[in-house]
Amino acid sequence: MTFKDLITLKEIAAHDVDELFHLTEELKARPWMFSGALTGKTLAMIFEKPSTRTRVSFETAMTRLGGHAIYLSPKDTQLGRGETVTDTARVLSRYVDAVMGRVFDHGDLETLAAESSVPVINGLSDYGHPCQALADYYTLREKKGRLAGLKLSYVGDGKTNVCHSLLYGGAIMGVSVAVGCPEGYGPDPEVLSYASELGRSTGARFTEVRDAAKAVEGADAMYTDVWSSMGQEDEKKKRLSDLGSFQVNTALFDQAKPDAIFMHCLPAHRGEEVTDNVVDHARSAVLDEAENRLHVQAALLLLLIRSRVR
Ligand code: CP
Ligand code: NVA
Repeated sequence: MTFKDLITLKEIAAHDVDELFHLTEELKARPWMFSGALTGKTLAMIFEKPSTRTRVSFETAMTRLGGHAIYLSPKDTQLGRGETVTDTARVLSRYVDAVMGRVFDHGDLETLAAESSVPVINGLSDYGHPCQALADYYTLREKKGRLAGLKLSYVGDGKTNVCHSLLYGGAIMGVSVAVGCPEGYGPDPEVLSYASELGRSTGARFTEVRDAAKAVEGADAMYTDVWSSMGQEDEKKKRLSDLGSFQVNTALFDQAKPDAIFMHCLPAHRGEEVTDNVVDHARSAVLDEAENRLHVQAALLLLLIRSRVR
C-alpha cells in the first residue's frame, strides 16, 4: 500500500485497487480466515450526518476482524462544543488505530488526515464518497468479470459526492463515465478534467451531457443518486422540478445495453430519482453494492491498519 489515508481516491493507484480487490475476494469467500486479524485494534467513527450502511458496515467489519469500533457524534463529543478538528485528531491518534469520518465540510477531513498519525478514511463528505465508489466498482467487476473498457452512465444530480468518487474511480480503473444532468447540476469541473487527464492512460472517457438518453447509450451500468443530498433538504422543491426529466425509469433503463445493471448507493428516494420497478429490477445490483461495502471496507481497514506507512 502506498497511501496512509483514503480521502478522495486520488491517493490510490491502479495497483492499490488490485491489491484491495484481491484481499476483498479473500475476505468475502473465507471470512473465518481473518477473524483475529485486527484483535485489539480500534476504529473511531465520527458521524456528523446520519447513516445506515456506512455505520453498520464499518462497525461489523471491525467486529468480524476481531477489533472494535466506537461511534462518535458531535452531539455527544467535545467537537459539538467547539473543540477543534486538529485537537480531536491529535487526541484520537493517541487512542485508536484508525479514524473514519462522515462530515459536512471536506476540509475537515483533510485536517483530520493531516493532523492524525493514524489512517483516516472518508465515510462521506460534501465532496466525495470513496468507500462507496470502491464497493460499486468491486460490484461492477463481480457482475461483468472485468472493469477496463466498460461504460457507466450516471444520470441525475452530478454534483454529488458519489458522482465525484465514481469519476475518480473510473479514471483509475478504466471505466468510462457519462454524466447526464441538467445545467447547473454537473460535477465539479476540476474532478471531470482530472478524470479525463488520468483516463488518457487507462482509455476511459468522461463526458457531461444534458440529455439522459444520450448518457445511457451503450451503458453497461446505470447509476443514480438522490436529488437532494443530506444537508440540501431545504432545496428539495426546486431540485424536484429541475431534475424531473432525469429520473431513472424503465423507459430510460431499456435504452442502456440489454444486460446493463442498475446501481445506486442507497438510500433511494423511490419515485424521485428512480422508480420502484428499476430499484427492484432483476438487473438491479443495489443490495450487492450495499453488501460489498462491508467486504471492501474490511479489506481497506486491514491494509491501512496493518501496513501503516507512517
Ligand atoms: N450509501 C451510504 O453511504 O449509505 P448510508 O448513508 O446509509 O451510510
Ligand atoms: N449524495 C448522498 C449520498 C448518500 C449516501 C448524500 O450525500 O446524501
